[in-house]
Amino acid sequence: MKPMISLFVTVMLISNIQAQVPIYKDPKQTADSRLKDLLNRMTIEEKAGQLNQLNGGFFTGPALNDPGQKAKMQMVRDGKVGSFLNVIGAKETRAIQEIAVKESRLGIPILFALDVIHGYKTIFPIPLAEACSWDLSIMEKSAGIAAKEASSAGIHWTFAPMCDISNDPRWGRVMEGAGEDPWLGAQIAAARVKGFQGSLNDAEHILSCVKHFAVYGAVEGGKEYNNVDVSRVALWNKYMPPYEAAVKAGAATVMNSFNVFEGVPASGNKYLVTDILKKKWGFGGIVVSDWGSFGEMIAHGYAADEKDAALKAILAGSDMDMEAQVTIKNLAQLVKEGKVSMQAVDDAVSRVLKMKFKLGLFDDPYRFSDEAREKATLFTAANRAEALEAAKRSIVLLKNEKNTLPIAFNGKKVALIGSFADSKDDLLDFWIAQGEAKNTVTLREGLQNRFGNAASISFAPGYGLDGVANEAMIKEAVAMAETADVLLVNVGLSGKMAGEDRALAFPEIPAPQVALLQALKKTGKPIVALVSSGRPLILTAIQPLADAIVQCWILGTETGNAVADVLSGAYNPSGKTVMTFPYAIGQIPVYYNAFNTGRPIPEGTDPGWKSRYRDIPNKPLYPFGYGLSYTSFTYGGLSLDKNTAGKNETIQVSVTVTNSGSVAGEEIVQLYIRDVAASIVRPVKELKNFQKITLKPGESRTVKFILLPKDLSFSDAAGTPVLEPGLFKIMVGGNSRDVLEKELTIK
Ligand code: NOJ
Repeated sequence: MKPMISLFVTVMLISNIQAQVPIYKDPKQTADSRLKDLLNRMTIEEKAGQLNQLNGGFFTGPALNDPGQKAKMQMVRDGKVGSFLNVIGAKETRAIQEIAVKESRLGIPILFALDVIHGYKTIFPIPLAEACSWDLSIMEKSAGIAAKEASSAGIHWTFAPMCDISNDPRWGRVMEGAGEDPWLGAQIAAARVKGFQGSLNDAEHILSCVKHFAVYGAVEGGKEYNNVDVSRVALWNKYMPPYEAAVKAGAATVMNSFNVFEGVPASGNKYLVTDILKKKWGFGGIVVSDWGSFGEMIAHGYAADEKDAALKAILAGSDMDMEAQVTIKNLAQLVKEGKVSMQAVDDAVSRVLKMKFKLGLFDDPYRFSDEAREKATLFTAANRAEALEAAKRSIVLLKNEKNTLPIAFNGKKVALIGSFADSKDDLLDFWIAQGEAKNTVTLREGLQNRFGNAASISFAPGYGLDGVANEAMIKEAVAMAETADVLLVNVGLSGKMAGEDRALAFPEIPAPQVALLQALKKTGKPIVALVSSGRPLILTAIQPLADAIVQCWILGTETGNAVADVLSGAYNPSGKTVMTFPYAIGQIPVYYNAFNTGRPIPEGTDPGWKSRYRDIPNKPLYPFGYGLSYTSFTYGGLSLDKNTAGKNETIQVSVTVTNSGSVAGEEIVQLYIRDVAASIVRPVKELKNFQKITLKPGESRTVKFILLPKDLSFSDAAGTPVLEPGLFKIMVGGNSRDVLEKELTIK
């Protein structure tokens, strides 16, 4: 080639390359080649950036205009931020995305994350309450609506569902979970993951996050951020099923928990993160730390300094560093020193980039941040209608003597008593994303909405919002009660006492409220206690004072309307507890799936020298799976299609349930097993299935369950399922206490 021509060809080639879209930006290329191309172009600093998640303002927004956030925006320009949490709204997320895409060297879009726990703008019942509906389709739907709302506001990723099993109502975070049962928790975890994520490609669903991995629900004394010490047998049988079910349902991300497992903080725990999650379960998504948890390994006494913390986190298999910034500061150096391989870095970074590709952010980084869509999507009438449905189904009727409920409101004088019943600020909890108190229907408003014309509804606060006893308030309430036909008394705790950093040593009805009920009891009027709380409270003190007790939890936007519908019977309550209600604080932890011990107290025998307290009964106030209806259900004819079966056989269990009352109702029919003698002691009862059925008055139905070999198995200490021959008890009932029983032998 002549020199002139060769120069010409070279210039043409270069300009051609410049005009070409890089492979990673070309939607026509395969996801895999796009990812490889991008990785090849990244510096180690940019790779560390993808593993860095920063706080964008903690619910305050707008992050961009906050002078405190300027330095963070510079980090975005420098490619040092892969994700933000707590940047909210289509406008804000778009503005930051523009900086990332237009002003950083490679233009990698940001992932925006937020705790969308039970709704974004339309607030659904807290997860613990919604779990009491035992209605998986409602839970999937409410997660879907939360995702739809959040995605329209620029959010790609929620830190939910919380899959921690807990037996401790002192722990404020039980509000975020699905209660105490591993099997039910697993079904619910999977339903919520499906609801949040859908197919993940329509920009109307978001990444879910299984948290807190692992065993965070076992914090000692129910104290937040506290120590955990559980065996591997407990890990596998009691705590793992919900995490595993969520991962198997396709959860895109998993969050490290704050606690240690076997003395090693979860963020640095290779057994949990690599051996179980990534290898045994084949998890291909992102493992994100909890807030600062990489750095907290120093305080735990596991890492010597920030560099050591970053090293231990990445070697364990944890990928993204939320807020600790130990990874962004130290990863390049750790690689230079040969302590971390580029392969390990690339694996972590690929997991983050894969999600960005999956969400379509490289093709349209703004597809979630659309102000018009945001406006049209948030807080619609349709979303509120679903929130009302979920709220009604979350309510649990705990007591109903003399058929105090339902109330025929027509022409009645109703006294509504209790400060919370009229306080929008106390209705919602801490995890409400963009939910607003002003949008939330109080009990007072709900009753007024539904019966304002037909009944006379008067209101007295009865106690101060500060929980302080006040003689004058009690007097005023009693005077009002004297002239009323029925008293509705809202007791419990402010919604603000539910959630993170809300551990309580005394999860009970505050003394001033008990005093109020005692004074009201003297009027002789029927009393309905409406209990607001984000956890099971100790209700023993108010049990004899109230004719009816309605567990209202924290129900979200539609609180007042839902409670009014249940009180009137417009909706016949069908919820059942998913956490045991203890008799006394000293009984905690108390749960249905306990071990028998070597010294149980058989029914009707002398309790001496047996496992017991001297000052309280062994039984809780309300067991797991318990809840009343305005009708009654009777159970009969429990049968198995075989009394002896081989290890691989399925067993059909049938039971006849009859609506023996006078109104239609829904019943949650529960199937339990007990493995009577095994190589590892098994609980006295384990839930293995349920069906929620609707029966007309007088109607009977034969409910059939199929028991599978896996339902009769347990996990050994290595997490391997084992089915051992021998005797099993098969039990069916309307709660975990009152069951019919048959025996089954596995050969
Ligand atoms: C700490 C909490 O433990 C976790 O559940 C939450 O998702 C993060 N903070 C982010 O807000």
